[in-house]
Amino acid sequence: MNRNKKAVLVVGGAGYIGSHTCMAIAAHGLTPVCFDNLISGHRELVKWGPLVVGDLADRVALRKAFEDYPIDSVMHFAAHAYVGESVTNPARYYQNNVANTLGLLDCMRAANVNSIVFSSTCATYGVPTSVPIAEDHPQAPINPYGWSKLMVEQILKDYEHAYGLRHAVLRYFNAAGADPEGKTGEWHEPETHLIPLVLDVALGKLPAITVFGDDYPTPDGTCIRDYIHVTDLAAAHMLALDRLLATGNSLICNLGNGRGFSVREVIAGATRVTGMPINTVISSRREGDPAILVGDAGTAKAILGWTPHFDSIDAILATAWAWQQKLFALPKTGLKE
Ligand SMILES: NC(=O)c1ccc[n+]([C@@H]2O[C@H](COP(=O)([O-])OP(=O)(O)OC[C@H]3O[C@@H](n4cnc5c(N)ncnc54)[C@H](O)[C@@H]3O)[C@@H](O)[C@H]2O)c1
Repeated sequence: MNRNKKAVLVVGGAGYIGSHTCMAIAAHGLTPVCFDNLISGHRELVKWGPLVVGDLADRVALRKAFEDYPIDSVMHFAAHAYVGESVTNPARYYQNNVANTLGLLDCMRAANVNSIVFSSTCATYGVPTSVPIAEDHPQAPINPYGWSKLMVEQILKDYEHAYGLRHAVLRYFNAAGADPEGKTGEWHEPETHLIPLVLDVALGKLPAITVFGDDYPTPDGTCIRDYIHVTDLAAAHMLALDRLLATGNSLICNLGNGRGFSVREVIAGATRVTGMPINTVISSRREGDPAILVGDAGTAKAILGWTPHFDSIDAILATAWAWQQKLFALPKTGLKE
């Protein structure tokens, strides 16, 4: 590779949000160096730069990546992210999401790389006491996944204070949709997110979508979430990285649309976009599901000049639908273009 071209180490770059961000990094004229153990990511989604297959726990492999490429910043997407599993197997979450992140930060310090963009989550807020949720809302996670992300936020604050390591902490709401040109998209196994599951019903892969609770204090009784398009998320990462490198000022921002859609509204949108009927099964509420999670992304707009472009649920669903059909057509072999 051209060693004069600056590189960004993208840990977890073979995953859903990471692969979209690698595409944005390359479009920005930088080289995304993807470091991923492929535990939930896919080799086929690494198209915009080199792939180093390695585990975050492997400090030797990490150090080598810093030596091999002209890396001057890091984006850190790698994590386990199943909320339910984090309750039954917290060790797995604290090990990967927290302990392995410490290893990454130590390798950054050793390599003299001082800027990191970190994937945090609205799960750090727990059950909100007010919506829309702004960054100064109290953080009180209700599961180990949320705690693991909040712990890293605290570590990043302490590392900045002690070692001058600067961070952009981005707290995503519900990432959704896919690259509008279909170059990458959401590919989780197992899938737990509402939109791909609803689209799997439209595809006939699933018989029905389970709606967990229709007796919430919301207009139609189902939970309301803030869906933010993954291309908008990727754009925010570039703005955050640019600002971090230009000013050296750390920042923390929510990334959401500031508008919520209920489960029923998502299902109705999917029926419109796919033209297919979506069977639903009503089940009881899941423990720990707040009625409404909607983010206030005013800080990202003010500080980064970020504006999400996909603000209608149908526009988000249309990109997800195009991708889901492509994935369905090649379920066993993966996506070879
Ligand atoms: N998807 C969402 O709606 C959402 C919302 C809020 C926050 N987040 C956070 O954003 C990040 C990315 O989410 P995603 O949906 O793209 O997940 P993903 O599972 O698609 O991507 C995570 C990537 O990290 C890699 N990885 C995990 N552990 C690793 C390790 N030890 N070593 C090397 N690579 C490892 C996986 O193989 C995968 O490619 C995660 O940190 C997640 O917690 C996601």
